[in-house]
Amino acid sequence: MEHRSLLRLAVPAVASLLALTTACTGGTVQGRPGASGLRDPYFPKAGNGGYQVDHYALDLDYDPADGELHGTAVITARAEQGLSSFNLDLSGLKVEGVTVQGVGARFNRTGNELTVRPAEDLKKGEVFRTEVEYGGKPKTLTDADGSKEGWITTEDGGAGADGRGSARARAGAVGVGEPVGSMTWFPGNHHPSDKATYDITLTVPRGYEAVSNGELRSRTEGADGRTEFAWHSPEPMASYLATAVVGPYKVTTGRTPSGTGLYNAVAPGEAAASAGALARLPEMVEWGSGRFGPYPFGTAGAVVLPAGTLGYALETQTKPVFPGAPESEELVLHELAHQWFGNSVSPKSWKDMWLNEGFATYAEWLWAEDHGGPTAQQHFEAFLAGDTAVDEAADSAWDAFPPASPPGPDHISDEPVYYRGAMVLHRIRQEVGDEKFFALVRGWAADHRHGNASTADFTAYAQEKTGRDLKKVWDVWLYGEDRPK
Ligand code: TRP
Ligand code: ZN
Repeated sequence: MEHRSLLRLAVPAVASLLALTTACTGGTVQGRPGASGLRDPYFPKAGNGGYQVDHYALDLDYDPADGELHGTAVITARAEQGLSSFNLDLSGLKVEGVTVQGVGARFNRTGNELTVRPAEDLKKGEVFRTEVEYGGKPKTLTDADGSKEGWITTEDGGAGADGRGSARARAGAVGVGEPVGSMTWFPGNHHPSDKATYDITLTVPRGYEAVSNGELRSRTEGADGRTEFAWHSPEPMASYLATAVVGPYKVTTGRTPSGTGLYNAVAPGEAAASAGALARLPEMVEWGSGRFGPYPFGTAGAVVLPAGTLGYALETQTKPVFPGAPESEELVLHELAHQWFGNSVSPKSWKDMWLNEGFATYAEWLWAEDHGGPTAQQHFEAFLAGDTAVDEAADSAWDAFPPASPPGPDHISDEPVYYRGAMVLHRIRQEVGDEKFFALVRGWAADHRHGNASTADFTAYAQEKTGRDLKKVWDVWLYGEDRPK
C-alpha cells in the first residue's frame, strides 16, 4: 500500500540516526525500531512494521473454572529491515518473559503495544524466533460499533438442555478477532495484511472440547486430568480469523462428497436446531467449488456457540462460529463463502471490507438463484424498490454510504458494505454478462488465492479480465455519495 511505504521512508529517517549512535558504541548491525502500526485507514495502530510473520505456534492452557489463559506464543518472522526493536500487538494479560533467538529480550508495554528489544539487532532478511510467555484473564473488547469481540466466556454452556453438569462446570470460552480482538488472546502482528500459518494447541480440563482452525493433529489425554488438542493450519491465515473455542461441545466429523474433511462442534443445547442447516454444509462446499473455484482449505466445518454468546456469526478460517443455531441456511452459506472471499483472498486494509461482505452477500443471492429462490437480479431490484418480501434487509440503510468508503471504523460492518457491495457485483454482471462475470469471480479467487487484495486491485482486475471500461459502475456504485438509481 502506498501509505505504508511512505511510513517507511519518513519514520526511519530519524531512527537511523539513533542506530548510527548504537553502531559507534559497539552494536554490530544498524537496526532501527519497527513501526508500531501499519497506518490502516481505520485502525492505524493495528499491526506492526519491520517484519512479516511466517508462523505462529500458540500453546495455550485454559481453565474454565477461573477463566485464566496461560501459555506461550512462538512467532517465527522475517525482518524486513534491520531491527533494534519491534512491536507485537497485545491487549491485557501479563507478559512473563520474552526471548528472541533463544536469548532473553527486554520488553515494555504501552497501551496495546508490546515492544521487544532483542539482545542483538536483527538483520534485514533474517528469520527470527520470538517466544512470549504470557497469561491472565483475557478481556472482551467492545468495538466502535458496539459489538463484542476478543475473548468471550460462555458461562452457560447450554446447562439444563440435556441435564448434565452445573452451569459452572459447563462454562467455556471463545476467542474471536474481527477486526482487532485477536490481540486479547495472543501477541502478534494483528493486521490482515500479514498472514501466517498456525499451530494452535489448546489444553483444557478433561471432558471439555477445544476447537480451533484447521485440522486436528492429535488429542491427548494427560495423566494430569487435562486434554491437549493440537490444531494445525497449513494455509496462511489473517489473525482476525483465528479462533479458540472451549466448552462441552458435541463433535461430529465427516467428509464432503469430494473428500474435504468436516469437523462440526455444536453446543449441546443448539444441536437439534442446528441440524438442518449444518446438514447442507457438504453440498454447499461442493457448490462453492463449482461457482468460485476449488475450496481453498484442507478442512471445513462449523462451531455453534451457546445461544446469545455473540451478536453475529464470524467466518473464522475453516470453522465459522455461529452465535447459536444458524438462523438460516443462507447464513451458513454466507460464512462458507467468506472462505474464498475474505479468508483466502483477504483485504489489504479494513477499508476493503466490502470485498469480504459484498462477495459473501452476493454468494447468498447466487445460492438462492441456483436453488429455486429469487434470482440475483430479483434481489438487486428488491433493494432498489425496498421490497422486503424478497429480502428482509431490502428497506435497510443499504444506500447510506459508498461501500468502498465507510465513514469510519464504527461503520465497517454496516449494511452498505454488505448489500450495496453485492449490488456492485451485480452491476458488473449486468454490464459484462454471465460468462465474463463468472470468469472474473473465479479468476479473482484464483489469482489472489491465499493473498491480500485492495479495492483498487479489484477494479483494475475486473476491467482487465472483462476487457470493459467499468468506470461508471465504480463512480456510481462503489464510490458515489448519492443513492444509485
Ligand atoms: N463478518 C461477519 C460476517 O458477516 C459479521 C460481523 C463480524 C459483524 N463482526 C461484526 C457484524 C460486528 C456486525 C458487527 O459474517
Ligand atoms: Zn460476512
